[in-house]
Amino acid sequence: MKTLRVAAIPGDGIGNEVVPAAVKTLEALSKISGDVTFEFTYFPYGCEYYLKHGEMMPKDGLARLRGFDAIFLGAVGNAELVPDHISLWGLLIKIRREFQQSINVRPAKVLKGVRSPLADPKGFDLMVVRENSEGEYSSVGGRIYQGEDEIAVQNNIFSRKATERAMRFAFDLALKRNNHVTSATKSNGIVYTMPFWDEIFDEVSQGYPDIETESQHIDALTAFFATYPEKFDVIVASNLFGDILTDLGAALMGSIGVAPAANINVNGNYPSMFEPVHGSAPDIVGKGIANPMGQIWTAKMMLDHLGEEKMGRHLLDAIERTTSKGIVTPDLGGTNTTEDVTEEVIKQLH
Ligand code: NAI
Ligand code: MG
Repeated sequence: MKTLRVAAIPGDGIGNEVVPAAVKTLEALSKISGDVTFEFTYFPYGCEYYLKHGEMMPKDGLARLRGFDAIFLGAVGNAELVPDHISLWGLLIKIRREFQQSINVRPAKVLKGVRSPLADPKGFDLMVVRENSEGEYSSVGGRIYQGEDEIAVQNNIFSRKATERAMRFAFDLALKRNNHVTSATKSNGIVYTMPFWDEIFDEVSQGYPDIETESQHIDALTAFFATYPEKFDVIVASNLFGDILTDLGAALMGSIGVAPAANINVNGNYPSMFEPVHGSAPDIVGKGIANPMGQIWTAKMMLDHLGEEKMGRHLLDAIERTTSKGIVTPDLGGTNTTEDVTEEVIKQLH
């Protein structure tokens, strides 16, 4: 029997509602599948912790988290207690940066029974792999002069290392899926970094002869997301392009409450972190109606990442059987509670 040691950080707001729901689901899954057990250790880091201690997590917080197989995070942020930039940078971004979680992966898939804003979503099922450590979001640049002479410069940093890393990850992922990778480029407009991106995409693709590839300019690709999302399998994108595409992907799924994300450390030196896309949802906290699907789905991504793909598939099947029965929370047009949905997912696991 294998034991997976998971650091759970429910965080703020509905994080405290959806993390317990997902943990309950994982525990039920473990009983059914029988070959993996989970050992959850809870960390109370978040805005209330900040009020008591003056920091989002203790000085040795990262050292405490480092030895775990994965980090399972709810949401961070309670602007009534702590300004968002402090809570976000003191916990979430700190973990992503220090643990070299240089790749962000987000699936977009139309779940059975969930209404996509697309008239005909044709069962799309894709994954966006976003480079998450540099690119357009590198803080290199500056401003000079004032008034009408004022100038602002923002540099894009593309290293061979980080670019290759994101692309390899995308190709490896496609091998486990439908053997197709699309590169999001803009080499017709951005004439240094994007041709470099394209060259590396070509080079990396040589090592994957079984994978079909295609490059699309980001503007066209965004339009194709809405017109034929079912044609995509894995998409690899730079930090900015990936950021935009993934929000569109989440919107096409029907509610932010179902969208999951993974922050992946690929060198194995630190744990990866799994979280839903949504935040702490202060407007619905305590009402018992938070959609737990995003959190449960990110548990599936955690299982996949830790090599338990069979359990991951089992979990996603149970999620889809639940949505297809119409047992969904109000954000998806339903009348069910967090607990109803969680209980149904557990029932569907059996
Ligand atoms: P939000 O994602 O918390 O909420 C946006 C809207 O979606 C709200 O109407 C909310 O009720 C709804 N919603 C979100 N998750 C839901 C779920 N699981 N089920 C049903 N409805 C759901 O974004 P918002 O309001 O901009 O931010 C609130 C706080 O969360 C802020 O402090 C922000 O900084 C933080 N935040 C944290 C994130 C993280 O931890 N990764 C990501 C986004 C925001
Ligand atoms: Mg975003």
